[in-house]
Amino acid sequence: MNVFVIGRGGREHSMVMKLAESVKVDNIYAAPGNGGISDIAKCVGIDELDIDGLIDFAGKKKIDLTIVGPENPLLAGIADRFHEAGMTIFAPEKNAALIEGSKRYAKAFMEENSMPTAAYASFTDADKAKCYIKKQGAPIVVKADGLAAGKGVIVAQTVQEAISAVDNMLVKNAFSEAGRSVVIEECLNGEEFSLMAFVHGTNVFPMIPARDHKRAYDEDCGPNTGGMGAYAPARDVSPETLSFVTEHVLQKAADGMAESGRPFTGILYAGMIMTNDGPKVIEFNARFGDPETQVVLPLLENDLLQVFLDVLDGKDPCLQWKDQSCTGVVLASKGYPGSYQNGVKLPEMHMEGSSFVVHAGTRKTKHGIVSDGGRVLLAGAKGANLSEATECAYNWLAQNIDSKEFFYRKDIARYQ
Ligand code: AMP
Ligand code: GLY
Repeated sequence: MNVFVIGRGGREHSMVMKLAESVKVDNIYAAPGNGGISDIAKCVGIDELDIDGLIDFAGKKKIDLTIVGPENPLLAGIADRFHEAGMTIFAPEKNAALIEGSKRYAKAFMEENSMPTAAYASFTDADKAKCYIKKQGAPIVVKADGLAAGKGVIVAQTVQEAISAVDNMLVKNAFSEAGRSVVIEECLNGEEFSLMAFVHGTNVFPMIPARDHKRAYDEDCGPNTGGMGAYAPARDVSPETLSFVTEHVLQKAADGMAESGRPFTGILYAGMIMTNDGPKVIEFNARFGDPETQVVLPLLENDLLQVFLDVLDGKDPCLQWKDQSCTGVVLASKGYPGSYQNGVKLPEMHMEGSSFVVHAGTRKTKHGIVSDGGRVLLAGAKGANLSEATECAYNWLAQNIDSKEFFYRKDIARYQ
C-alpha cells in the first residue's frame, strides 16, 4: 500500500517509523516532512494547509491511506475534501475536529453529555467576562476559544492576571479569530495524564496512558511549550481510572458525536487531570498528541497500518502493548519557546541498544542535518521499567549532544 503522512514534527516522524515496520507498506510519502522523515519516506514540499496540492499529489501517487498529524489541516477540512475526492483518510471531518478547534463547543458538548470537567462559562463580552472572574476569584483559567498553538490557555493566579488575559483576547485581539470568544474555567489541581484512542464512529480502542511535560525548565518552571518530554505508560493511573476514562470520556464522546451528526474518525485525545473528586477532562484533541505519540507508538506491538485499516473497517484491531516503559526527552533550541536560531549543525548521531531519535525541527542540507525549529529532536529509549528507559535516554543525550546552542530538561520522568 502507499501511505501518505501529513505533517513535519516529531509526532509525524514517529508515525512514519512505525508505519515503515509494516509488511503491508510499499511506499511512504510525507508532506512536508523533516530531516529524519526523509530518511524513511519520500518527502514532498507541500504545505499541510495546501489541501488542493495534497489531494493532487495523493491522486498522482495512488495513495491508499492518508494520515494527518497536526490539527490545523483538520480544522481546515482536509478530511471532508479527501472524502469528496473519494480518497481514504484516517482523520476527523471538520465538524468533528471542532472538539479540539473550539473550546466553547467542547465544553458545551461535555456538559450536554455529563462528562466530568471543570465548571465554566463562556463570553464574547469583556465586561461580562471580568464580572464573572471577580465573582469567582482566583486562581482561575482563561482560554481562547480557537486554535492558538498551545498558547491560548492562561492559568491565572490572581484576578488581575485573569482580567489582563481577557483584555488580551477580547479587547486587543491578541489571538485574532481564535480569541474572539473565551472560556473561563474553574482551576483544577492534580496530576495530568493523556489517554488517546483510535476511534471510528462509536468504536473506541484506547492506547496506554502517557504524560507529557509542558513547561520549558526543570521542576515545571518557565513558560509552557509544545512539550519538553513525555513517558508511557503513566503507571500511577490505575486500571479503574483507565476504565472510567474509556467509558465515561472517550466512549461517551464518540457516542455523543455520532448522535449529534458529527461522527468522529481518527485519534481522539483526552487530556485528563486526577482531582480529589476523580478524573476530569481538561481538553480534547482530535489527533495524536505530541510528544506523547513518540513514547506510545514504540510500545505498540501491532502493525500500525493494519490498526488504521481495521479501525476503518469496523474491526477490533486487538491492540497489544509491550510490557516495557518508554521515555522521550526533547532537545530544544536555546531560547525556545521564545526566539531562537535555526541552522545549527547537529552532530553525527549514533544509536545504541534500545535508544532512538525522533526528529522534530530538523532539515537535511549538503553539510548534514541542521536544526530547523524550536523543538529539534526527541531522544527516546525503551526499558524494562521507567527508570531504565529514562537513564538510557539521558545517557544518549550526554554522549551525543554537547552544543551550547541546545538545551533539554533533566527531570523528564524522574519525579514520579
Ligand atoms: P490545554 O491547552 O487546554 O491542554 O491547557 C494547557 C494546560 O493548561 C493543561 O495541560 C493544564 O496544565 C492547564 N490547564 C488547562 N485547564 C486547566 C484547568 N481547568 N485547571 C488547571 N489547569 C488547567
Ligand atoms: N501534548 C499535548 C498536545 O499534543 O496537545
